[in-house]
Amino acid sequence: MSDTGLFISFEGIDGSGKSTQVTRLADHLRAQGRDVVLTREPGGSTGAEEIRALVLQGDPDRWSAETELLLFTAARRDHLERLIRPALAEGKIVICDRFADSTRMYQGLSRGDLRATVDSLHDLMIGVEPDLTILIDMDPVEGLKRAKGRQGTEERFEDFGAELQAAMRAGFLALAQEFSTRFRVVDGGQDLDAVAADIRTSVDQALTARG
Ligand code: TYD
Repeated sequence: MSDTGLFISFEGIDGSGKSTQVTRLADHLRAQGRDVVLTREPGGSTGAEEIRALVLQGDPDRWSAETELLLFTAARRDHLERLIRPALAEGKIVICDRFADSTRMYQGLSRGDLRATVDSLHDLMIGVEPDLTILIDMDPVEGLKRAKGRQGTEERFEDFGAELQAAMRAGFLALAQEFSTRFRVVDGGQDLDAVAADIRTSVDQALTARG
């Protein structure tokens, strides 16, 4: 989407190791002297972080699927307006831990088939895609073990169980095919250094292509 900067998103099921890899990539690019903005969804701006608390904490049935979709989209719109667009306009590299593909999967797939609604709302309110999306593909049983190992209050989506995580994994791989120009699939089952190296290769290619 960017004219000058580079917009990179990371996707994957819960426990795929995204957060670690996002940080490693940011450190690597900064060490090269590049201007990097590291952010995440839901959240990333003051308003969106407030919405994050609404969607990730509390009873799993707190919101209907449709209301939840609106909240995630509202958070994304604020994040885009306040942080992502301005950073890209200044030529920065924006690395975002999850973006619209997470909504296509989590809201579009997990609570009935809302994908068409997700797409309509995305076109209407967001309308941009990352330049590069790194999908960390991961065995769901492994991923779930890792996710459950973490403490915290934000567990709503991690309570889904292995079956749904398997559907999510397949869904993410299907998305990677659907948007094959911007997606790169990385094997998250490798050791952390190998995953990081694969990610750097894809990002270097994108930076070269950008010129
Ligand atoms: P987070 O703690 O950031 O988990 P992870 O490290 O796995 O990214 O929580 C984000 C949760 O929100 C995650 O379970 C996926 C979910 N989510 C959605 O359901 N829809 C969305 O649009 C986004 C961005 C995240």
